[in-house]
Amino acid sequence: MKVGIIGSGMVGSSAGFALALGGGASEIVLIDQNPARAMAEAEDISHAVPFGRPVSVRAGDYADLAEAGVVILAAGVSQKPGETRLQLLERNAEVFRTVIGAVTRAAPDAILLVATNPVDVMTHVATRLSGLPPARVIGSGTILDTARFRSLLGRHLGIASQSVHAYVLGEHGDSEVLGWSAARAGSVPIASFAAQVGAAITVAVRAEIDQGVRRAAYRIIEGKGATWHGIGAGLTRIVRAIAADEGAVLSISTRTLDIGGVPSVTLSLPRVITRSGITAELRPELDAVETKALAASASLLAETEATLAL
Ligand code: 2OP
Repeated sequence: MKVGIIGSGMVGSSAGFALALGGGASEIVLIDQNPARAMAEAEDISHAVPFGRPVSVRAGDYADLAEAGVVILAAGVSQKPGETRLQLLERNAEVFRTVIGAVTRAAPDAILLVATNPVDVMTHVATRLSGLPPARVIGSGTILDTARFRSLLGRHLGIASQSVHAYVLGEHGDSEVLGWSAARAGSVPIASFAAQVGAAITVAVRAEIDQGVRRAAYRIIEGKGATWHGIGAGLTRIVRAIAADEGAVLSISTRTLDIGGVPSVTLSLPRVITRSGITAELRPELDAVETKALAASASLLAETEATLAL
């Protein structure tokens, strides 16, 4: 499957690198408003290919997206230290006004995979500007927050993060909701598992993990200016699920109807993803506090969407 990546900044090029090594694509085309940057990243990534599996990596133009199965949208500005994701909206919506039409004209059958922040609202923007069915316009959403949650829970319980089943829902951002009540480890409810291995999830542990997930990007941005490895791997995971028609359940963002009293808003829930895009969505069991928090996250995102003239 051909995969296009729009934007060769840290996120786009990291996605290209992770895809080249992680599978899912037979051909990767990098496009950037600065063609020299895209060419340099493509050349650098192509030098990793002999250490992995065969894949063609090159820089190109929109016309080179013809027949692409997925186009990753990673163009736009990223957060400065202290900035929230939502503060990027106006600048990045402007970028999408020029990019989305060019992508859909060149690759009308591609699934759009949005990574640009604020990713939920940018996915809404991409859905509206492209006119594509929402099932084919997907935001990376909370796939990364879910990975951070599983990683911290796994570390606390002394098990592999792959054996933790837990999701982060709602906004990929400050109002996100950690789904504690539905979390499982090795099919056992998380509190029971924690008690059995002598690693109780106390109020303090829970607060620490919550902040560890919710504040992760802020900490990393303070330390190195941006985040890119985690999201590069998360985007690769989504592309692999599409390319292999997997039916994987991933927490990803798309237009969601009737959530928390909001008729329509773009946010993350666990969803089934295949070659055709999103084929089903799950509503995890939540307790009263989580239900209220998800409704608040949905309202905040809907209010933000309403500020845009599209
Ligand atoms: C992240 O969470 C900044 O959204 C980016 O790593």
